[in-house]
Amino acid sequence: MSEKIVLTGIKPTGTPHLGNYVGALKPLVDMSQNNRTFMFIADLHALNTMHDPHEIAEHTYEMAASLIAMGLNMENAILFRQSDIVQVYQLATLLNNVTPKGLMNRAHSYKAMVEKNTAAGEDIDAGVNMGLYTYPILMAADILLYNSDIVPVGADQKQHVEFARDIAGYFNHIYGETFKLPEPVISETAGTIPGLDGRKMSKSYDNTIPLFAPEGELKKKIMRIITDSKTPEESKDPDESTIFHLYCHFANTDEIENFRKMFVDGGMGYGTAKTILFEKVNSVLANARTEYERLMSNRGEIDAILADGAKRARVVAEQTFARVRRAMLGE
Ligand code: ADP
Ligand code: TRP
Repeated sequence: MSEKIVLTGIKPTGTPHLGNYVGALKPLVDMSQNNRTFMFIADLHALNTMHDPHEIAEHTYEMAASLIAMGLNMENAILFRQSDIVQVYQLATLLNNVTPKGLMNRAHSYKAMVEKNTAAGEDIDAGVNMGLYTYPILMAADILLYNSDIVPVGADQKQHVEFARDIAGYFNHIYGETFKLPEPVISETAGTIPGLDGRKMSKSYDNTIPLFAPEGELKKKIMRIITDSKTPEESKDPDESTIFHLYCHFANTDEIENFRKMFVDGGMGYGTAKTILFEKVNSVLANARTEYERLMSNRGEIDAILADGAKRARVVAEQTFARVRRAMLGE
């Protein structure tokens, strides 16, 4: 096993869909097979946009159950709920004092809000709460609390990990070597998974295929994928097809080549192509779905796993926080 500590968080902002599966959940489950991994459901980070506690709790269960059902390596992975570790709130408060305000002004998500407000002729900070503004400080607290070496994230989160590294550097400069400097690792392999309408699959576009939808619903969703109006006989361009694109993430190389040929040769209607896609996706996900459904109807089991994860995470969090507190406030 590698010596590096891997850490990542995933926000419970929606029911996991196939885009999340390919782009985030599967790479994390794979990574857990060979690395000690801290993996948490970032419910505190959901708070700046979500105000319904039941919704956050529900999506937290869904996210945790998905990871477990997909085969997260429970020996290597410490799976927990971010909000269960009080030291992260405490560390964020302390890190406020070494974080330049200008750094937060440069954060992509805040800048995007400022630009949107400016274009609309609004006050630049309209709709910006301090949770959004200080989001990168809380994220630095997550990363530094568990002595992370490697932080696998999507490209949109790279800047946040770099900020965590900057904040660790400012802190070490003032108080002496206290934090390790983390590195972002950006997964580039997955690419963007298209949704039912061909745009990026995203809950914001309402075009998702839920990862663990019951079989009947999965089939119905796949049958709703938008296609062009080519007849079955016509040759079709697989690279332009959402059906083909999705298939590539679930099938092996031979199957993909075969399917490509069926597009190019003509003679296959989109209805048949969708059925082939459905059968493939369904066969890959069926066992995990059964386990997901079992866990979701035994919430106590998920609670116990998260509680055990929190217990293990807390051991490290307490040590780091004590070290930081001593560095800043003395014995
Ligand atoms: P959504 O777009 O539905 O709001 P999130 O932004 O919450 O999804 O994404 C959570 C994780 O899932 C991120 O790591 C992101 O990279 C990954 N992800 C989301 N949608 C896709 C997609 N269509 N293709 C690949 N990865 C995706
Ligand atoms: N901000 C991340 C996202 O939106 C989630 C997250 C919170 C995270 N804390 C983290 C990711 C720490 C990596 C490390 O996807």
